[in-house]
Amino acid sequence: MTNCLDIDVITIFPGMLDGFLRESMMKRAEQLGLARFNFINPRDFTTDVHRTVDDRPYGGGPGMVMKPEPLFEAIESVRRPDSSVILMTPQGRPFNQGIARELKKQTHLICVCGHYEGVDERIRQLALTDEISIGDYVLTNGALAAAVLIDAVVRLLPGVLGAGEEGTEEESFTRPLLEYPHYTRPPEFKGLAVPEILLSGNHAAIRQWREEQAVLRTHRRRPDLLEIPPPLDTD
Ligand code: ADE
Repeated sequence: MTNCLDIDVITIFPGMLDGFLRESMMKRAEQLGLARFNFINPRDFTTDVHRTVDDRPYGGGPGMVMKPEPLFEAIESVRRPDSSVILMTPQGRPFNQGIARELKKQTHLICVCGHYEGVDERIRQLALTDEISIGDYVLTNGALAAAVLIDAVVRLLPGVLGAGEEGTEEESFTRPLLEYPHYTRPPEFKGLAVPEILLSGNHAAIRQWREEQAVLRTHRRRPDLLEIPPPLDTD
């Protein structure tokens, strides 16, 4: 039996993600039964006529804070014993390929998308198991961040990428090296030729050239990556 990764996204803007999850590889993953996507809107858990999900911060200051009750109830409505409850926030641990590989082994992800200045701190204490940032910048809300996380995790599920596309071992960030340069036809484009060696048919030489190019490129663009030891777990 193939495993299915269940992903519930808690957001007041399901429309920001809906189109993304219904296209390309995410759509394919769902059609193949490898992933399941679902939205929960905290507004559906409000009790007032205005369906209020935010309020002014105690102590004053700018912006609004997401109220704890609707967010908590939204999380509880889908929480299971095996759930990872992840808040998307610039305060979280920095997302990377290692975390994507860690999350693909889970069975249920709940991505909680904040909005406004953030969420009431008691949500952290009561409901979260993890907090993830997709980079050192501030988005207007966590929906795009959830999309980035979901894409990076779901494409790693066995069977999501087509046959022959699962060469993740050579991909940037699986090993801590950037990828070598890629070329396809035509052999010459606007005066620029494909490196001779790639047309040689000498597979050992091609492999060596690619390795050298990957190291060179990493040295030039991301020397910091060369300091990171390769992952032990390569599944
Ligand atoms: N929400 C707002 N900014 C974010 C970021 N950089 N990462 C994750 N969630 C966010």
